Amino acid sequence: MNIVAIHGVEHKGSTYHIAEMVINNLNADSITEFFLPKDMPHFCKGCGVCFTTDEKLCPHYEQVNLILKSIELADVLIFTSPVYVYHCTGQMKTLLDHFGYQWMVHRPNKSMFSKTVLVISTAAGAGMESTNKDITDSMYFWGIRKVLTYAKAVRAINWQGVSDKVKSEIQKDSLKLAEKIKKSRHTSLPSFKVQAWYYAMRLVNKKFPFNEVDRAYWEEQGLLKKKPWA
Ligand SMILES: Cc1cc2nc3c(=O)[nH]c(=O)nc-3n(C[C@H](O)[C@H](O)[C@H](O)COP(=O)(O)O)c2cc1C
Repeated sequence: MNIVAIHGVEHKGSTYHIAEMVINNLNADSITEFFLPKDMPHFCKGCGVCFTTDEKLCPHYEQVNLILKSIELADVLIFTSPVYVYHCTGQMKTLLDHFGYQWMVHRPNKSMFSKTVLVISTAAGAGMESTNKDITDSMYFWGIRKVLTYAKAVRAINWQGVSDKVKSEIQKDSLKLAEKIKKSRHTSLPSFKVQAWYYAMRLVNKKFPFNEVDRAYWEEQGLLKKKPWA
């Protein structure tokens, strides 16, 4: 199992430690980690060339592509973000903005339909649901096969401040999450939600195409005829 973890902050705080606990329970063959904003420090400029022409023309293609190549090779992706004013960190959002072109309505990446994603957020008290949703919205529209989430109010501003009781709850939860991830690898079918979106987007690109580049991609990838999962 190849794992790629993308952390929405550079420091190794509560959210990072939860991801590490899950990873330690997974016996991975390889683990690649990215820390934001270090590994992708640029905001989307809004030029739109990824949508209208080619994602390779993005001014930040080099960094985005490095992360994408790792993602493509992974079986399991782990996205982490602490809650910052009820949402994911700005640097996580800015990374996801750069992948808008591969939302299913545009140019779905076939490799996503076989991946499991775990999204982890922590807060002092509240806001984990909206934070996880900031990330899961992209995961569903990327076509990720199985999306799992974990939300924890750690009642602390850093990992040192987290009580032993909460740490032990997290330890138990991390075992369950690892089991869920392993189990998710036994099915080849994406969730109903992802399947429904794929068929809807296929109809749009077949009958009502609104972007020539997207339409050409669906054809060239054979996506108009054959679904991208077994
Ligand atoms: C800028 C900023 C905004 C925050 N906003 C919230 C918030 O909206 N709700 C909350 O409960 N905690 C909030 N917190 C606290 C963190 O989400 C919480 O301490 C989290 O567990 C930190 O994770 P980390 O150790 O991985 O950085 C905020 C912290 C910072 C630095």
